[in-house]
Amino acid sequence: MSHPSVPHHIAIVMDGNGRWATGRYLPRVAGHKQGVEALRTCVQSCVDRGIAVLTVFAFSSENWSRPIEEVSGLMELLGMALTREVPHLQANGVRMHFVGNRSQLSSKVQAGLAQAELDTAQNQRLIFNVCFNYGGRWDIAQAAQKLVKNGQPITEMALDRAMALAHVPDPDLLIRTGGELRISNFLLWQSAYSEFYFTDKLWPDFDAAALDDAIVFFKTRERRFGMTSAQLKTHDQPHPAKVHAVRVA
Ligand code: IPE
Ligand code: IPE
Ligand code: MG
Repeated sequence: MSHPSVPHHIAIVMDGNGRWATGRYLPRVAGHKQGVEALRTCVQSCVDRGIAVLTVFAFSSENWSRPIEEVSGLMELLGMALTREVPHLQANGVRMHFVGNRSQLSSKVQAGLAQAELDTAQNQRLIFNVCFNYGGRWDIAQAAQKLVKNGQPITEMALDRAMALAHVPDPDLLIRTGGELRISNFLLWQSAYSEFYFTDKLWPDFDAAALDDAIVFFKTRERRFGMTSAQLKTHDQPHPAKVHAVRVA
């Protein structure tokens, strides 16, 4: 098998909310609100397509540098979205995980995150990771600190197990909306072999058809994992989930 079928794990940098709002003479926070709607559609589309894991970038370690009104608007929106969306997630069998540095969030937000995780803990159709106050560098550093604290040697496997996303295999497809061609401190460690898909579409405009375009692109890629094309024709292509299983074994 030289071409993959549907990606097991999709990761998304949901970018372009601010420009979506500004283009409509609306405040930036209105773009983030519309972004939550797009995210609801995306979660549903992933469930419908049998995607196993969806990981989204909702707030980066660097986003604290934004104007205070925008940061507090985003915090408020997170709280509102949790209250409103968790029942839908329940109905759809979606399990939520929050990934990021929680200690810098208000105790109210922290409690909301913990409750949403608890409420959805039994669900098994889709694992939905929301990266909030997350940075790829933070993750690598916190993983290394854990190992040092436990007196463990810093190996690739040990680091992998200590990462905030250790509960899922690496993303197969990494999508960025909003036209920027950069990673902005998202999954630095885990995207080593992800296929990258960039689209100019702004996140609030990213619908089910846009997700399908990204999946069609993914299916055309030949994932070689360091091997040659000829080798892939004679060997079973290593499935990323298997690669992960071997790495963490
Ligand atoms: C992404 O949209 C959402 C967050 C970073 C919270 P932006 O707010 O970055 O939107 P643009 O890039 O300014 O259009
Ligand atoms: C990345 O988008 C972070 C999120 C989508 C949450 P940014 O808009 O913050 O990225 P830069 O600043 O343009 O690189
Ligand atoms: Mg942006």
